[in-house]
Amino acid sequence: MKKLRIVMVGVLTAGALYAVGPSAATAAPQPPAPPAPATPPKPGHGGPAPAPGTIDQPLRVLAAKHGLGVGTAIDVNALANDAAYRERAAREFSAVTAENVMKWESLEPVRGQYNWGPADELVEFARRNGQKIHGHTLLWHNQLPGWLTQGVADGSIDSAELRSIVKNHITTVVKRYRGKVRSWDVVNEAFTDGDNPVLRDTIFRRLLGPDYIADALRWAHAADPKAKLFLNDYAIDGINPKSTAYYELAKTLRRQGVPLHGIGFQGHLDLQYPLPIDAPQNLARFDQLGLETAFTEVDVRYFLPTDTYKEAGQVGSFNTLLSACLLTPRCVMFTVWGFTDRYSWVPDAFSGQGAATPFDENLAPKAAYRGLQQVLATASVPHGRRGF
Ligand code: XIL
Repeated sequence: MKKLRIVMVGVLTAGALYAVGPSAATAAPQPPAPPAPATPPKPGHGGPAPAPGTIDQPLRVLAAKHGLGVGTAIDVNALANDAAYRERAAREFSAVTAENVMKWESLEPVRGQYNWGPADELVEFARRNGQKIHGHTLLWHNQLPGWLTQGVADGSIDSAELRSIVKNHITTVVKRYRGKVRSWDVVNEAFTDGDNPVLRDTIFRRLLGPDYIADALRWAHAADPKAKLFLNDYAIDGINPKSTAYYELAKTLRRQGVPLHGIGFQGHLDLQYPLPIDAPQNLARFDQLGLETAFTEVDVRYFLPTDTYKEAGQVGSFNTLLSACLLTPRCVMFTVWGFTDRYSWVPDAFSGQGAATPFDENLAPKAAYRGLQQVLATASVPHGRRGF
């Protein structure tokens, strides 16, 4: 009874204040000031706002206090020809991923003849700028060399031969960059979409059987025991049947002692689809398996032209994924799939869509970039040591 009366008084007071408006409200009795905390709060734990000038800093500087790598995919042609691109890439990011030049078709366009040049240039750029490298990707059903896909199609490459080709490819590439590449996407996009994901019907799955993933991880581990080995996919940012398929696979592989160290969540978002707001819970379950997690290819596309609604949606989308990462103790890296609209893959791949990256075509920072700065600068640091 007593409790009820208090509640009602509260409601009436609030109602009265609301009804009479702000000027009369100032004349109303003020609630007592809250007691001063016994010890002043620590910075980053509800403490004072960051000092002016501490927010507008390069992402890699802001991310460092979280122990988080912040990365971008690199277009090596832009790197060679565009000084402004080069400078931005060096200034903002502590991690880089080859957008294309570490894919099989690029590394071994002719059977037995490796074309290391472009990948080596990226490795050298990263070294000069103190950046870590996320290797992308050892096995994927796209961007495979013609000699390989044709050989399998015409039967001139059988299962036994494909097995030795794959083992040799993984061993050769991982050994070449041993000690230089921090982490590898060993298998990219292994699962199908939809309600009942299964291992995708690729040449690897078909000829080598479902254990090709475990074998690929073991071969990569033998070639560089220190490299962190990832599986990477799109549309697994939130909890859904596909991410759950990864969760089950990861659990099985860990139980079997297979060297799987992380899951890469691509984070290719599109404003026409629901935002994966449960990304924190999703990453948490992989974290609890002892795995690293990372957003590996984040971009947020929409149908052009830009308007303020879309801009706001984009800010929220980038921030949702970055926050999910910061909330996850072993989320080591947040990488965007290109940092400028000048070179983004989106307009080529998705007709009518674009503007998906944090910098515009003139390399000017967009609201999405400011949002990432805000989150990195103001988030607390409960998980500062992530091992990046
Ligand atoms: C894309 C590149 O950005 C394009 O330049 C290329 O033409 C096709 O591949 N998921 C991945 C990336 O894992 O390798 C893809 O990159 C984008 C989707």
